[in-house]
Amino acid sequence: MRVFNYASQPSWMALLAAALLGTSTVQAIELDLDDEDSIRKAAKNVATNMMSYYTGMNPGDTPGNLPDPYYWWEAGAMFNALIDYWFYTGDDTWNEITTQALLWQAGENKAFMPANQSKTEGNDDQVFWAFAAMTAAERNFPNPPADQPQWLEMAQAVFNTQAPRWDTSSCGGGLRWQIFTWNNGYNYKNTISTGGFFNLAARLAKYTNNQTYQDWAEKAWDWTAEVGFMSPDYRFYDGASDLTECKPINHIEWTYNAGIYLLGAANMYNLTEDPKWKERTEKIIDASGVFFSHNPPDVMYERACETVNTCMVDQRSFKGYFSRWMAQTTQMAPFAYDKVIKRLRASAKAAAMTCTGGINENVCGLKWTEQKWDKTIDFGQQMAALEVIQANLITRVAAPVTNDDGGTSKGNPNAGSKPKKAIPPELDYDITAGDKAGAGILTVLFLIGIGGSTGWLIWD
Ligand SMILES: *[C@@H]1O[C@H](CO)[C@@H](O)[C@H](O)[C@H]1NC(C)=O
Ligand SMILES: *[C@@H]1O[C@H](CO)[C@@H](O)[C@H](O)[C@H]1NC(C)=O
Ligand SMILES: *[C@@H]1O[C@H](CO)[C@@H](O)[C@H](O)[C@H]1NC(C)=O
Repeated sequence: MRVFNYASQPSWMALLAAALLGTSTVQAIELDLDDEDSIRKAAKNVATNMMSYYTGMNPGDTPGNLPDPYYWWEAGAMFNALIDYWFYTGDDTWNEITTQALLWQAGENKAFMPANQSKTEGNDDQVFWAFAAMTAAERNFPNPPADQPQWLEMAQAVFNTQAPRWDTSSCGGGLRWQIFTWNNGYNYKNTISTGGFFNLAARLAKYTNNQTYQDWAEKAWDWTAEVGFMSPDYRFYDGASDLTECKPINHIEWTYNAGIYLLGAANMYNLTEDPKWKERTEKIIDASGVFFSHNPPDVMYERACETVNTCMVDQRSFKGYFSRWMAQTTQMAPFAYDKVIKRLRASAKAAAMTCTGGINENVCGLKWTEQKWDKTIDFGQQMAALEVIQANLITRVAAPVTNDDGGTSKGNPNAGSKPKKAIPPELDYDITAGDKAGAGILTVLFLIGIGGSTGWLIWD
């Protein structure tokens, strides 16, 4: 993921949409949360607009890529949202292009490390694709042909590439943000990367009942607490430079970090039934109250950027993942249902009220708390609205399957572990100025400090 690009949207798009909206009556997407069909219809409406961004299935286009400014990882996130969409609604409209993209991007070692992405791919980027594959396994999404990589196998492949990246050379462990030494952010250890690994390990543990995954999940959780990326009261901070032993910590808080640990903890609770994991699950939910407004009550907002209008492209989608993982937490940890569903309902209602933009009046805004379209247009915020709306179907669908309980995806515990070629492909050609700008020419990378309340972090 990136932190330094495209702070604002091309305003002509908003203007155009506003113009197209014209004088017609503003009618929010209808959403009755007590009516399954209404939720389905709203989800389809919002998803249809989201899919207008994606052209990867067209001849000559690349399956799995979104157009600029959207990075590769966000496409992986989209396919996860679409797998959930199919599972929640039964509508298979986008199943084929989902399978096509996942198989295309899985790449040679099935671990979502295509050469095209090596200038920017971080551990967090990789794991968002792995989540799509893991979700496909958990939901019995139609399996690829037998001679192709399989969902569980892909998730295991990513795990098998990330576990050896566990890095004890600084800060006592953790995952670096970046995979490749030449990318900016290699010296940053962060919560989303380590949390992604934790989440994946916990779900693989639940799915396969293999102790190795469980041990890694324990280890990743413990390190997150020890290094201080998770506070004693279960708040999640962004990360820190490993050049200074992970001090000082950048205290910015994002919804998706809470979410990524929440679902991992819920899986660990479901697997082990250990009261320790129950407590952790519950405490994360309680601490994540900071991401919900009081007026209107219980509506999610990205507090680090929404209130000061600095949400960048990636960040506009984060609420969607938190919504997704909250919903799935209610299946793994049913005791948490009441607390979680209250927030999901209020947030979905508010989100749907923002979806009045554009010619079809299905363009959703960023700020759900405003309960009306904020005249911005963006793929990620559209996906986030889809996620929170469809999350409200969680009570109407079955719990994730496992190897022992209905799962049909074939695994391969050794997937992805094939040694990579010694010479990375991009060292074969000159990096142009344009490439550098795209990958972030800034050798000094700034994490944006918001309103002076969160620290600025600078490193080489
Ligand atoms: C890599 O980029 C090339 C050129 O754009 C494209 O043809 C190919 O499909 C891409 N591969 C992947 C896995 O995206
Ligand atoms: C684990 O998940 C299943 C499926 O949702 C659920 O029925 C069961 O109650 C959960 N276990 C615990 C300990 O909550
Ligand atoms: C459990 O997972 C580990 C790590 O991927 C693997 O090496 C091992 O073979 C697996 N065990 C079984 C029984 O599948």
